[in-house]
Amino acid sequence: MTVNKKIFALIGILLFTFCAGKEEPEGLTKKELLGKKLFFDTNLSLPPGQDCAFCHGPEVGWTGPVEEFNKAGAVYEGAVTGRFGNRKPPSAAYAGQCPVFHLDEEENFVGGMFWDGRATGKELGDPLAEQAMGPFLNPLEQNNPDKKSIVTIVRDSDYAGLFEEVWGPGSLDWENDIDGAYERIARSIAAFERSSEVNPFSSKFDFFWRKTKDAGRDVESIDESNWENYKNLGLDGKEVEGLMLFVTKGKCAECHVLSPGSNGDPPVFTDFTYDNLGAPKNPKNPFYSMPKEWNPQGKDWVDKGLGGFLESTEEYARYASANYGKHKVPTLRNVNLRPRKGFAKAFLHNGFFKSLKDVVHFYNTRDVEETNWPPPEISENVNKDELGDLGLSEREEDLIVLFMNTLSDGFIPPKGKK
Ligand code: HEC
Ligand code: HEC
Repeated sequence: MTVNKKIFALIGILLFTFCAGKEEPEGLTKKELLGKKLFFDTNLSLPPGQDCAFCHGPEVGWTGPVEEFNKAGAVYEGAVTGRFGNRKPPSAAYAGQCPVFHLDEEENFVGGMFWDGRATGKELGDPLAEQAMGPFLNPLEQNNPDKKSIVTIVRDSDYAGLFEEVWGPGSLDWENDIDGAYERIARSIAAFERSSEVNPFSSKFDFFWRKTKDAGRDVESIDESNWENYKNLGLDGKEVEGLMLFVTKGKCAECHVLSPGSNGDPPVFTDFTYDNLGAPKNPKNPFYSMPKEWNPQGKDWVDKGLGGFLESTEEYARYASANYGKHKVPTLRNVNLRPRKGFAKAFLHNGFFKSLKDVVHFYNTRDVEETNWPPPEISENVNKDELGDLGLSEREEDLIVLFMNTLSDGFIPPKGKK
């Protein structure tokens, strides 16, 4: 080697070490890191090529990252070409506080994973881990035949050593304990989904939330009379006004709640309850034309949401009709996060809406006579108390959208104002 070559080699090694060190963000525990490897492992599908991130991309807030799908039906194609699911991927972030599915004192259902709550969490005591057992074996998603095939792929992976470090020797031993091994995979993924990498609480709103607390005030008490006092605490005047409208006239915070998490974290903007907003069908959903094997009702298929899940259970079947058309209140964190300006996203369980402005306009005018919204997908149980005719002006609609834009992670506070 010439001296020059040696220098280049040295630079190369330094660069490699630097990049390799960078690759794993600091602050992940070994279990979280293992979960991350699983989340981003494209070998875990049949045929290979599809990881969880295919439908839950960090760059769009851990929801669907493919523009072509978002623009149309907003449902995603599984590992097998041409097989589409029936709902839009919700965010996989900020879901860690979601309780196990249950009926509360007022006979409202709360908790569970998926738009309809069917990954209840009752089996593992953790809805997030229970959810993670689903996609690998779903023929419309990662399409693996059985648990054994997943455990085998993990056992042959380059992170098998890390797995045993986390869970102990023999923890991938499917011959003796296939269910245990599969459960450990799911629990590792849930650990990553609860990690600070997936839940950084680093939005402009979080910056404002902390500053407001330091100033001895609390964001939950904002209203029409006091909102001006919340200015100069990290949000622009218009954003504060938008927040005030979000809480007051817009009624948004009645479901996308502002209460802090049990561990004192800022709010995740959902109370994990269910509602039917009366959203129209999305006729562009390719699920309508899927073969009978997956969709026996063809174009007549309607998404019964929570009610559909309840009617499939013995325990809750009698509550089904009162819950047709209801879907879980999603987090609004990162709802407007896009890899670039103008990148197409879709909203609600069926992706009918393509802009936040349209979503707010719908809440505001669904029941106003002159508007021409298509009929609801399910006309039973539509919520008429908290939305439909809010009387917001166009300016007020825009301000609410402006506020939602402050919920994107990765905000860099101005210098000296940390
Ligand atoms: C082909 C697309 C696709 C793949 C691959 C996929 N998901 Fe999903 N995910 C979805 C859809 C669609 C839903 C909603 C389904 C429903 O409600 O019926 C969902 C729901 C979820 C939820 C529920 C969030 C909530 O608040 O209810 C979590 C968490 C999640 N996925 C994590 C994962 C993990 C972990 C993996 C990998 C093991 C994964 N997903 C793979 C499409 C996908
Ligand atoms: C009665 C409860 C309730 C109220 C009030 C409410 N929401 Fe929602 N929100 C929901 C539910 C439930 C969904 C999901 C419905 C579906 O997919 O069919 C949702 C979905 C959304 C979405 C789509 C998120 C996504 O990831 O697809 C946005 C944006 C949103 N709401 C914003 C608002 C705003 C802004 C307001 C106030 C103007 C508001 N919501 C008021 C319950 C509510």
